[in-house]
Amino acid sequence: MSNRKMITAALPYANGPVHIGHLAGVYIPADVYARFQRRLGKDVAFICGSDEHGIPITIRAKKEGVTPQDIVDKYHEVIKKSFADLGISFDEYSRTTSKKHYETSQDFFKTLYEKGKFTEEVSEQYFDEQANEFLADRYIVGTCPNCGNENAYGDQCEKCGSTLSPSELINPKSMLSGNVPVLKATKNWYLPLNEYESFLNEWIIEGHKDDWKPNVYGQVKSWLNDGLKPRAMTRDLNWGVPVPLPGAEGKVLYVWFDAPIGYISFTKEWAEKNGKDWKDYWQSEGSDLVHFIGKDNIVFHCIIFPSMMKAHGDYIMPKNVPAFEFLNLENDKISTSRNWAVWAHEYVEDFPGQQDVLRYALLSSAPETKDNNFTWKDFQTKNNSELVGIFGNFINRVAVLINKNFDGIIPEGDINAPELEEIGIKATEIKNYLENYEFRNALTSFMNLARFGNKYLADEEPWKTIKTDLDKTKKILFIGAQIAAALGNLAEPFLPFTAQKIYDIFNIKQMNWNDIEHSKVLIEAGHKINVAPLLFSQIEDSVIDAQIEKLEQTKQNNKKTNPNATPMKEQINFDDFTKIDLRTATILEAEKVEKADKLLKLTVDTGVDVRTVVSGIAESFTPEELIGKQVMILLNLAPRKIRGIESQGMLLLTTKSDGKLSFVTPDDQVENGVEIG
Ligand code: MF3
Ligand code: ZN
Repeated sequence: MSNRKMITAALPYANGPVHIGHLAGVYIPADVYARFQRRLGKDVAFICGSDEHGIPITIRAKKEGVTPQDIVDKYHEVIKKSFADLGISFDEYSRTTSKKHYETSQDFFKTLYEKGKFTEEVSEQYFDEQANEFLADRYIVGTCPNCGNENAYGDQCEKCGSTLSPSELINPKSMLSGNVPVLKATKNWYLPLNEYESFLNEWIIEGHKDDWKPNVYGQVKSWLNDGLKPRAMTRDLNWGVPVPLPGAEGKVLYVWFDAPIGYISFTKEWAEKNGKDWKDYWQSEGSDLVHFIGKDNIVFHCIIFPSMMKAHGDYIMPKNVPAFEFLNLENDKISTSRNWAVWAHEYVEDFPGQQDVLRYALLSSAPETKDNNFTWKDFQTKNNSELVGIFGNFINRVAVLINKNFDGIIPEGDINAPELEEIGIKATEIKNYLENYEFRNALTSFMNLARFGNKYLADEEPWKTIKTDLDKTKKILFIGAQIAAALGNLAEPFLPFTAQKIYDIFNIKQMNWNDIEHSKVLIEAGHKINVAPLLFSQIEDSVIDAQIEKLEQTKQNNKKTNPNATPMKEQINFDDFTKIDLRTATILEAEKVEKADKLLKLTVDTGVDVRTVVSGIAESFTPEELIGKQVMILLNLAPRKIRGIESQGMLLLTTKSDGKLSFVTPDDQVENGVEIG
């Protein structure tokens, strides 16, 4: 096994913040793995950064009416901070707009170009003559040939889910100008992926049948079975890394060409700052390259990027590509556009100091082999019954008993006690699971050690033996302390903030994983510990209900056909409704109210009587135009004085989009005093 671990996590698009789906399916498992490898003493580079090119960025910019640079500047910071707040221990978190990345990706392209690895192809692409731009598929809208949806995109219809190409759309229109796009010839550089089929077959299909996850292996296999085609590595766009060739003005590198090279660029940036040689990680057989990604990225990391590296010639191939499936939220697909997500930065704000609770909840429902589901109720249970009830409870009891009965000094015990073996067994179990990318099993093993500790205390009852058998109590708490110290250490990859708290309580430093596996004594008798604050606290129903309510609001918002519509008021019953006396009426007279710009004093024939109504409509109507107008009145509203005039009832009005008021009136002329309902 090699000593170096080059660990990457998929570069998130800087077009929005990160949510629990990203965290559970890429970043938290990757972080656990990186932390764990460091604990084994491996030379780890854990590298990530923002993916700042590509259509998702330019679309978001257009939507918000700002430049792509504005978008990536904003979200790069938001994303970077969320990762730091959640303890994701990247050695480097950079961005694909960095100078080093431009150089690195352009050099990479030039090398392939000079080695003759590209083919040049002229194709017809849609072009917007008014905007003077070629149009990415996403920038063309039209009618879906399959379902008739008039707002289908050039690459996909979101209504029926079918994959499309722009030429299939009926009545295609450019999203830039609304004009009909024209086809125009353009030259681009293609990587003939078909020429890499036998290499990929040998390397993955024959070489990694047993050690890659079945979902990853299966997807690669099906791609290869279908046969690969040349794929354009350049695009006619104005946002991206410029193609470094003469005559390639207005062309940029395909985002899936430049983004994975980001892993290399960022390793270079990190290496330069830390006196390392980046080639040791990327171009040396002594290094294990591991890509953590979501399942939608498999083809890019298992087929395209490896083919690029193979074409280049100097690079090692990934040792593994652990791809995760998707996490749902409350049984519904997580969606940025529908705001159906728990956002990392909002969690950190709503649950200060509770980062490890989210890490724990997401790891225990990590979508390893199939899509999984996050619910707030489940989150609460995991915190209250597992973190508080088992893990926190054990650590707390041990620390409190030692403080109370032995002045915080670890008592003498049996260094060969059979219970200590359980520590080593669990450490090895966790190691084996983590080496195999089985994060949920690893977490369960960890929790089982806490369960073991709890049961040990419950069986031995040191709070009772202290009254009868001091020697026995010492032995129990010596063992308890060893288990607690082990739990702190083993928790670190999963729950780094909690691990630190345990180190502080027991006044210990982090230990090498191997020592724990050998069940060595972790805290000597005579060692002084500190007072124990609680590691976790109960999460109340009200807190969970507030989060569920937030999602409920999102659901309501998503139903709106008018985004400006205010939410529905509290429901009323029919009896409430019948109390309201609405009638048709006619305005007889109208005059301005002195010293009140907005008010008119109206005389109204309600059919029931003739009365005075003061109404705030002077900015929308002149008194003259109101005379003789049929209106509706809320007749039984209690009278109130406005500017000294008693107003009896209220006229029904609504507001137009220009802000001016408009009367709610019957379609046809009716008599005064007719009830409405
Ligand atoms: N930004 C891509 C996504 O979110 C992932 C890019 S991974 C890289 O799906 F390898 F290209 F960097
Ligand atoms: Zn459709």
